[in-house]
Amino acid sequence: MLKKKVKNICCIGAGYVGGPTMAVIADNCNYLNITVVDINEERISKWNSSDFDNLPVYEPGLKEIIKRVRNRNLFFTIDLKNSIKNADMIFISVNTPTKTSGFGAGYASDLKWVEASARQVAQNAVGHTIVIEKSTLPVRTAKVIKQILISSFDEEFENKTEKSFSILSNPEFLAEGTAIEDLNNPDRVLIGGDEEDSINALKNIYEKWVPEDKIITTNLWSSELSKLAANAFLAQRISSINSISAICEATGAEVNEVSNAIGFDSRIGFKFLSAGPGFGGSCFKKDILNLVYLCRYFGLNEVAEYWEQVVKFNEWHTKRISKLIVEKLFDTVALKKILILGFSYKANTNDTRESPAIKIVKDLLENGAEIIISDPQVDPDIIALDLGIEENVFKNGSGQGKWRYHKDIYEAAMGVDAVVIITEWKVYKSLSWHKLVKVMRKPAWLFDTRSITNYEELKDLDINYWSIGNSNYC
Ligand code: NAD
Ligand code: UGA
Repeated sequence: MLKKKVKNICCIGAGYVGGPTMAVIADNCNYLNITVVDINEERISKWNSSDFDNLPVYEPGLKEIIKRVRNRNLFFTIDLKNSIKNADMIFISVNTPTKTSGFGAGYASDLKWVEASARQVAQNAVGHTIVIEKSTLPVRTAKVIKQILISSFDEEFENKTEKSFSILSNPEFLAEGTAIEDLNNPDRVLIGGDEEDSINALKNIYEKWVPEDKIITTNLWSSELSKLAANAFLAQRISSINSISAICEATGAEVNEVSNAIGFDSRIGFKFLSAGPGFGGSCFKKDILNLVYLCRYFGLNEVAEYWEQVVKFNEWHTKRISKLIVEKLFDTVALKKILILGFSYKANTNDTRESPAIKIVKDLLENGAEIIISDPQVDPDIIALDLGIEENVFKNGSGQGKWRYHKDIYEAAMGVDAVVIITEWKVYKSLSWHKLVKVMRKPAWLFDTRSITNYEELKDLDINYWSIGNSNYC
């Protein structure tokens, strides 16, 4: 099928996956020409910005790579038609959020962006093109993409030329905040497909920097399902340790000690055992709900319920923290000032999708609190969008509180009743609590949902302390 060596690559979708992934491929394979296309003009102009601190995605190490490869062999554009036309290989890396309406709403993935991309490829591709699913997709989506691509042979398109396609699944396992490290040094690269030539063409690219034994090949459906399964297992692990944190608080055990003790079992291991405010991010919840939807579709109701409980528990866990904050502050936060440290769903990213901070701040606002938010990377306009309330605005007559953004933590802490650490940013691990406690209103509280502060440093200060999975410090 393959007539020539892969030289030109197009990636549809310049988001958290498309941008960094293509940057790393371009960096490792300077013989490739890679064009990343997006319908979002603002995003593309930020990728092309001369201010490297203003890229649309914040990832440690990303701007250094972009400086090296942009306009060398990596290009960002909105010219979809020509990018597809020139490409030997096309990655589809568009968003696949949970459907919000119609059949399967709340569970199934909304595939309209994937379908639109496939139609654009069908229409504009020339010659033989390898089409790669990079987005996370329900099992058997490759069949749908194939049908759309094949149907292009029957239609009268403008520049009708001989064309053929092969489809591969190549799910992405990078985690935000460590994307560059994950891409440069992946645990594995997974390629699903049934045509050897195309699989080898993609393998050849990864082999430029990934050891061969880390490149796994499977059939299409195993590859699609493995991505959903990996995220489900990871999320399940976080829900497991968070459930243990609640038992720790009730019994006098200490969650970090328990994580350490069970992590020594090589079958369990240490990773992903940090209790926190509940998992966030754009994918865990949506991918599990997608799995749940698939299970129900295939009549596997017990399997569906098993996985759905991971999401339900996560929601309960975050709500438990909101309630606990209100309870400790004498059962009312109305007119109290609360400083929120961290709004992104994890450290080292500017992404706030499904951040537990959104849920906790909304709960506190509904209870009338005045919230001050500080985050090293998240802009106030994103916070306003996430909360659905403008900065410094009361929701009229509803008794709800208001919020404002303040980057400088020590200034923001002036007169606050409580500080709540939600994201584990490194800078929060070395705060001067001596300084902060001095300016807070008394009785002052620290709620550490990540267990990153040191009790020894706090115990002699005039502050009450709650840390996740600890009963000793309450
Ligand atoms: P994103 O929302 O950051 O980016 C997707 C981009 O696709 C957007 O900029 C959007 O404008 C663009 N787009 C949508 N339709 C388009 C079209 N027809 N033509 C051109 N551009 C189009 O999403 P993301 O976080 O990069 O995720 C992409 C996929 O990768 C999802 O399926 C996600 O589940 C998966 N994934 C994400 C991560 C992560 O850490 N974010 C990790 C692994 C896998
Ligand atoms: C996750 C997976 O780790 C990636 O492999 C996957 O590619 C990606 O989803 C995806 O498909 O989108 P990501 O969501 O970026 O990556 O970040 P994680 O490090 O997995 O963290 C997810 C959430 O779990 C965060 O809110 C984080 O704070 C929380 N978490 C993580 C914990 O509370 N405790 C832990 O021990 C680990």
